Amino acid sequence: MKKSSGNMRTRVVVTAGPTREHLDPVRFLSNPSTGKMGFALAAAAAKAGYETILVAGPVSLPAPEGVERVDVVSARDMLAAVRKALDGGKRRVFISCAAVADFRPRSVSGVKLKKKAMSAEIKLVRNPDILKTVGSDMAKGLLPETFLVGFAAETGDALAEAARKCREKRLEFIVANDVTVEGAGFAVDTNKVSLVFKDGRVKSLPLMSKREIGRAHV
Ligand code: CTP
Repeated sequence: MKKSSGNMRTRVVVTAGPTREHLDPVRFLSNPSTGKMGFALAAAAAKAGYETILVAGPVSLPAPEGVERVDVVSARDMLAAVRKALDGGKRRVFISCAAVADFRPRSVSGVKLKKKAMSAEIKLVRNPDILKTVGSDMAKGLLPETFLVGFAAETGDALAEAARKCREKRLEFIVANDVTVEGAGFAVDTNKVSLVFKDGRVKSLPLMSKREIGRAHV
């Protein structure tokens, strides 16, 4: 994140952590994201003087200093909170770091389901793609112009997949990492990432702490 004199006029919205998709009050679908990368990015943005809103899924991290935190549970809650956070400010940056659950149970029970009454199969429906929705809201004039940044945690050809997502989600750049590399990905303090820009340029960073990556200049 570059420091410049006009930082206070720019709003940075970061999503972090997993989402939870409840089946009933005690059961949900989720993933192992701990929110460390997104929290590090929000901390770096606030420290650099940006107005920073952190939309966080259920994680056990304290809010970084100077950051406005909005806690959410599900992907649909996260989308609503992001749309609200982006609807204001002069210049906007959206960094989509959350590991959003792609599916949710088709029906949700308000009371704990008894296992005798449950089927071994759970019917799922697709969740909204938050980042893609923000891009299409922008294209339709429903949200103001925003600089979009994505993350891609991959286990295969990380750079090719990242380039596809960058194109499809109308991003300025995407931060790609191969989560099978030691010291990278979920629930660790370090990460090894490459930045894939919309014009095809790739900038690979060495293994660094998530804090250092949050502060890296691009
Ligand atoms: N993302 C999102 N909403 C979703 C899924 C993903 O906003 N429902 C965002 C993530 O925060 C990330 C980017 O999209 O910035 C890429 O996410 P990823 O899970 O790597 O990719 P998917 O689009 O889900 O694609 P695939 O399942 O094909 O890997």
